[in-house]
Amino acid sequence: MVKIAPSILAADFARLASEVESVRTADWLHLDIMDGHFVPNISFGPDVVKAVREISPLFFDVHLMVLEPDPYLERFKEAGADRITVHAEACRHLHRTLSAIRDLGVKAGVAINPATPASAVQPVLHLVDLVLVMTVNPGFGGQRFLPETLAKLGEVRLLAERMGIHDLELEVDGGIDRTTAGPAVRAGATALVAGTAVFREADRAAAIEALRRAARG
Ligand code: DX5
Ligand code: ZN
Repeated sequence: MVKIAPSILAADFARLASEVESVRTADWLHLDIMDGHFVPNISFGPDVVKAVREISPLFFDVHLMVLEPDPYLERFKEAGADRITVHAEACRHLHRTLSAIRDLGVKAGVAINPATPASAVQPVLHLVDLVLVMTVNPGFGGQRFLPETLAKLGEVRLLAERMGIHDLELEVDGGIDRTTAGPAVRAGATALVAGTAVFREADRAAAIEALRRAARG
């Protein structure tokens, strides 16, 4: 079953509690952390993650768009992250950062931008349970899906299988809606992040169900 992960970046922050409550039928909650350096936007930090943790039982899928995130890993774990995903492009010592996340006792993920090849994650695949293939350039919600990124899903899957890794999650993030969900899943995605496609709809449960249906094809 493909996991649906609504991104609260597209939620109404003035009504965050009810917005989070409205997506309780999802599988994961996706939390986008932007630092204004790695990406040209600033979102929110561990205190907001902690506040949302108090009201949501969902699996917390924390996506750090943060340059050199090592000093902040523990704070996100303490705030309630179930998985911490870092960008391959943002870590000087990616292997060390992913090992540090695992040592904290949470799951680790590695993300790659549209211009980063699949081969960038090969040396660290044994350290992660998820690879996030960005389907837009990170920094903003509501951007147009980049179909040329999808070929990397099959490439990552092949690298993993060759290493004897069979349970890797492949997540896509950016521009995912009921039109692009099908192609993403057929290309190998097992988890779909969706901000705009969920939160712009009045009925969030129906929006999540529409994505599940689109994912089934
Ligand atoms: C983009 C973020 C995404 C974003 C997706 O930098 O990582 O998670 O919230 O938003 P949509 O689904 O609107 O493209
Ligand atoms: Zn994200």
